[in-house]
Amino acid sequence: MRTDVAIIGSGPAGLLLGHLLRQAGIGAVILERRTRDYVEGRIRAGVLETVTTGLMRDLGLAEGLDEYGLPHSGFLFADGERLIRIDVEELTGKQVTVYGQTEVTKDLIAAAPDRGLDIVWDAEDVALHDIDGDAPWLRFVKDGADHRLDCRFVAGCDGFHGPSRQAVPDSASKDYERVYPFGWLGILADVPPCNHELIYANHGNGFALASMRSPSRSRYYIQVPLDEQLEDWPDDRLWDELELRLGPAAGKIVRGPAIEKSIAPLRSYIFEPMRHGRLFLAGDAAHIVPPTGAKGLNLAASDIAYLSRALIAHFKDGEDSRLERYASDALSRVWKASRFSWYLTTLMHRFPEASAFDRKMQLAELDYIASSDAARRAIAENYVGLPL
Ligand code: FAD
Ligand code: DHB
Repeated sequence: MRTDVAIIGSGPAGLLLGHLLRQAGIGAVILERRTRDYVEGRIRAGVLETVTTGLMRDLGLAEGLDEYGLPHSGFLFADGERLIRIDVEELTGKQVTVYGQTEVTKDLIAAAPDRGLDIVWDAEDVALHDIDGDAPWLRFVKDGADHRLDCRFVAGCDGFHGPSRQAVPDSASKDYERVYPFGWLGILADVPPCNHELIYANHGNGFALASMRSPSRSRYYIQVPLDEQLEDWPDDRLWDELELRLGPAAGKIVRGPAIEKSIAPLRSYIFEPMRHGRLFLAGDAAHIVPPTGAKGLNLAASDIAYLSRALIAHFKDGEDSRLERYASDALSRVWKASRFSWYLTTLMHRFPEASAFDRKMQLAELDYIASSDAARRAIAENYVGLPL
């Protein structure tokens, strides 16, 4: 098999890149380790920036987004009884859209056959070869048989645990990491959301988030210690804790059985550079942000905005300056989004090692946000997503 760009991973990064390349008439094949059912069943992020919705629109794949996406013009911070609203639309002129990553993925997968985007599901043991030379290739196993995919470029869109980042020699890279001493326990339930806007709450027992997927489907999260098990959290205990932590909004919580429940650890991680030879890394393969602020999926999309333009300029115009700049362009936005995710995480969570001074700093920061247009604007412009 031969193609122009071999893409490893069919998460949002790989799927968006595959579609954008195919739209420009460039060959692309995606190798995905999991089955289609598995990929379409994963529950992850829920808030989309205009960079992400813009790519779906450019692709002419915004039908689901337009029908079911919920435009949001603001969100709330809760601290005890106090609610602080960030009017994102008034402060930035932009909105965010609540539309699940699961739906984005399904929309992109459904459109793939019509657009000539091949996705090889269940591709095992994907290995990268000759990424330093002009003719890189991938080896993989499908249905027990060995296959080879030759290409001009490899896009490593294979998430945090994939093989792409590992293919870059240690001597040519450096990584930066902060691991947080807690995780998020998430619950998805078919009940109406407790509020029409998202609420990020800082409570003595820890962080809580009230989010949603639709007017009849809610998504909630609470901060839990890293060693906590799902079995420790039967639905009733989780609903009790949400009511406690969400404070003023809690009265409106409607309880229902969990249709999904999972625990995700929180981490900040950035790998530099995002290119090695003919391998380009994008999305979680190169960086992880803690979920506070919903930047993970949106960063994957902005990486792809840079990378797709660079590859299209290469194949269509023989122009390589964007490819040369890819790592620095993408990393500049990645570091800023990482800063914002780290800032919101630090502001809204209870750290086990925090002192009374640290808590006073959180309160002072929240007071400042409540009283300053400039502070709210800084938060709003990061929340809607910085320009490309
Ligand atoms: P992924 O979506 O991880 O896609 C990578 C793909 O590569 C996967 O399909 C994987 O199966 C495939 N792959 C891996 N290894 C191989 C291999 N060897 N060969 C072939 N394919 C391979 N972000 C938020 O903003 N808010 C959230 O609430 C939120 N919740 C999350 C919950 C969880 C459990 C996780 C893991 C992430 C969450 N994120 C959240 C982050 C967000 O979902 C990611 O940032 C986003 O999925 C990144 O997209 P991606 O395409 O880069 O990577
Ligand atoms: C969701 C996740 C986030 O990390 C966030 O900041 C807002 C919403 C969600 O899954 O709905």
